[in-house]
This record gives sequence, C-alpha cells and structure tokens, in this order.
Amino acid sequence: MVFLLPNVKFNLELIQKYDTRAPRYTSYPPATELHELFTANDFRLAIANSNQRQSPLSLYFHIPFCESACYFCGCNTVITKNKNIAKPYLERLEREIQNTSALIDPNRKVLQVHWGGGTPNYLELPQIESLWKTIRRYFQIDSQAEISIEINPSYVNQEYIQFLRDIGFNRISFGIQDFNPEVQAAVNRIQPERMLYNVMDWIKEAKFHSVNVDLIYGLPYQNIDTFRETLHKTIALDPNRIVVFNFAYVPWLKPVQKMIPQAALPGAQAKLDILKMTIEELTDHEYLFIGMDHFAKRDDELAIAQSDSSLKRNFQGYTTHAETELFGFGSTSISMLEDAYAQNHKELKEYYQAVDQGVLPTHKGIKLTQDDIIRRDVIMGIMSHFQLSKTDIEQEHKINFDQFFSSELEDLKPLENDGLVRLSKNEITITDTGRLLVRNIALVFDTHTRNRSAHFSRSI
Ligand SMILES: C[S@@+](CC[C@H](N)C(=O)[O-])C[C@H]1O[C@@H](n2cnc3c(N)ncnc32)[C@H](O)[C@@H]1O
Ligand code: SF4
Repeated sequence: MVFLLPNVKFNLELIQKYDTRAPRYTSYPPATELHELFTANDFRLAIANSNQRQSPLSLYFHIPFCESACYFCGCNTVITKNKNIAKPYLERLEREIQNTSALIDPNRKVLQVHWGGGTPNYLELPQIESLWKTIRRYFQIDSQAEISIEINPSYVNQEYIQFLRDIGFNRISFGIQDFNPEVQAAVNRIQPERMLYNVMDWIKEAKFHSVNVDLIYGLPYQNIDTFRETLHKTIALDPNRIVVFNFAYVPWLKPVQKMIPQAALPGAQAKLDILKMTIEELTDHEYLFIGMDHFAKRDDELAIAQSDSSLKRNFQGYTTHAETELFGFGSTSISMLEDAYAQNHKELKEYYQAVDQGVLPTHKGIKLTQDDIIRRDVIMGIMSHFQLSKTDIEQEHKINFDQFFSSELEDLKPLENDGLVRLSKNEITITDTGRLLVRNIALVFDTHTRNRSAHFSRSI
C-alpha cells in the first residue's frame, strides 16, 4: 500500500518492517552518551577551544516551571503555583550568565536566542525584562537575530504577548496538542478553542516573524477523525510551522503519565493511520515535510534553510544557522559546541549550589572524538537534508568516504533494496519513502547506539 504525497511517501509495509528503536538525533552522539567523567573543567577547556573558532552563537535559556501538570509531559519541569520559586532561580540563572559569558569571547555575535521550558511565560513581565537586560548586558545580540520563546497559551493575555514582541522576541511557539475536549480533559490540559484563536490573533497583531504550534498524536481518546478535526482547526490558525510529536509514553520515567488511562491510548495501527492522515492533510495544505515531526510553509526560514543547507538539528529539534555553537543556561540545559557537549544539573539544589560556588554548573558531558565528529556530520546531513555529498565529507575530513564507511555502505544495501535510500558514486540520497524512516538510515552510521538500541523510542 503506497500513497503518493508531495515530498514524502507513507509506505505502511516498510514502516512496520523498520519499526526499531532509534535516537531522535537532536545530537550525535545522542544525549544518552553524556557522562559524569566530563566535568566543569572539561567544559571550560572546550569553551576556550571554541573561542579559537570564533563561530557565532546560539543561546538557550531554560525556565523549568509550569503552573499545572499536563499528564503527557515528558519535559524537565517543576510544577508549582508558588510564583516565589522563580526568584531564586532567576538569581542563579543571571549569575550563571555572568560567570559563563566571562569565558566566551565577547566579539562572538549571537544569531539565535531561545527561551524554553517548562513554561517561560510562567515569569512575570518584570522578571522577563530583567533576564533580558542581563542577556543583553553580557552578549552581543545581532540586530537580525532570531529571538524565540515557548509559551503555554493558557497563561497569556494580549498585553503579555505585545510585551514579548516589544522587548525583542520575534519568533514564538505554543503548545496546542489537541483541540478535542475529551482528549484535553484526559491529559489535564483544558484549552478552549476560543482562547487558542485569541492567542493567535494577538500574536499576529504583534507581528511576530514566525509562529510555531505543537501537536501530539498518540494521546488518549484520539482517533483519526478527532485528530483530523484538530489538524483542520490548526491549519485554520495558519501557523508558519507545525510540529506533530509522536507521544512518548514512558510512565516508568515520567510518573505523571500514570494519570493517563492506558486503555484509552490509540493502538499501534491507529497511530499509523493518524500519522498517514496527518502527513496527507498538512502537505495538502501547503506545509512541507521538513523531517521527523516538523512541517513548515515553503517561505518559512526552516524550509529555506533546508534548501540552502543551513538547517541543522539541536536539542530543540530542527533549527537554522548550522554555523553556530549553542550555549545552554539554566537547569538541565545542554550546550553543543563543535567538539564537546555539556549538560547542566537537573536538580535545582545542585544547580544552585554550583552557581553559588562560582563554578560552571556542568553535571555531565562528552568530548567528541574525531570519529564522532565525522559521523556527526554524516548523520546530521542525512537528518537535515535527506542527501549527503560524500565529496563534501571527504574534503572536510580528509578521508576516503567509501573506505572509511565500507561496512556502513554494505549495511545500507538492504535499505537500498527496500527503496529507502539511493547510493551513487558521490551521493547518498534518502528517497521520499525513506524520509519517514530517516532515523533508521542515520542509525547505520551511529557506532554509539547500534548495540544499545533499547534506550530509544520507536522510529514512528
Ligand atoms: C516545553 S513544551 C511547550 C511550551 C509550553 N510548556 C506548553 O506546553 O505549551 C514542549 C512541547 O513538548 C511536547 N511534549 C511534551 N511531552 C511530550 C511527550 N511525552 N511526547 C511527545 N511530545 C511531548 C508538547 O507538544 C509540548 O508543547
Ligand atoms: S506540556 Fe508544557 S505546560 Fe504542560 S507540563 Fe509540559 S512543559 Fe509544562
């Protein structure tokens, strides 16, 4: 059964055949490879090396708080209505910015800023303003920088949205997840339709450059008809980008998910039907399939970045400005430099302690080997562009591609026979059928994961 779609083909038999677990490749090596032998001192050295490269910067700021728990949530959050909790956190966050920025060459320009969470709009407006002032004091933000924020639409009004825009945010993302009231009730996230339409109106009035909304498929009580309705309502909102996450159901890691009635979760076949319908609906309505779970309008910067090779993956998913190095601030945040990744402490107590002692709050990390860097470039090329120029990799890394990857090219042959990938003298091309299974193709080049795939979610 094969269905023709604009830039991606849904092939049920192959999706079922390749139903394995694989990382989402928001980084390579995947975040599961970060370890505690990598210390704050290692990160300090990695920052010094990174200054030699003089690459521009992306900055990520994590605000972990949420007012109430959505039962599906897999993010790193602290649920509390007690707003006092944000104050000591922001003090530490501002101190971390001050301490870490002292190690970063001040001439390096910031091209991207992202506030994520949790819920950044948990903060009061004066707190947002104060954090912004600190960021601007310690970093040189480019006048054309993409400055984005994630919000929960339940906790904003028009004044709040306009303030975000006035203070400098020019991209915004909010979670819808599902419009259906029964689904919303089952996941403890009631968002009346009228409210979502109002929030979008305010965002449009404030003239944000790009708006992203998140949906999730696989939630309780969803079926193909209810989710089609959710998609139609989402398309009517006319966002520039839509992310349709596959529900990661991991109650052993996220106990809050035990609140979800398991019997109400759609089965594997129902989820595949929903996914197929989703791809058809979105691509029929002028959204391009960017990869994994991301869709964007043709004129959105994600789609443009895909066509001019400046798209990449980082811990937020797909993003533009492949040339930047990412510094993360706040609990759990991850920095991704060219040759090292570092993650801050998850527990607020440990994060506060490190910042109070004036040391980098690094909990774990990884120093990439030359082999990791070569494979990272291959995997990210495949994930972001569905096409890899062997010649580019050879020139960049001074290797003979076919010799270096002889066993991987052998392992790709069955995938080539199944029509997921085309191998030619100079290129590896992911076919329209292979696009939905791009993680399986990337996995062939991933020496870290190939023997320990049980840790990861299923490809589809
Ligand atoms: C940090 S939240 C977005 C901002 C804000 N907190 C909100 O909920 O609107 C990031 C997104 O992750 C997605 N998400 C959270 N838990 C998930 C899970 N278990 N499986 C799949 N997606 C999930 C949701 O779509 C959510 O909007
Ligand atoms: S989905 Fe968003 S608002 Fe809900 S708990 Fe997770 S981070 Fe918080």
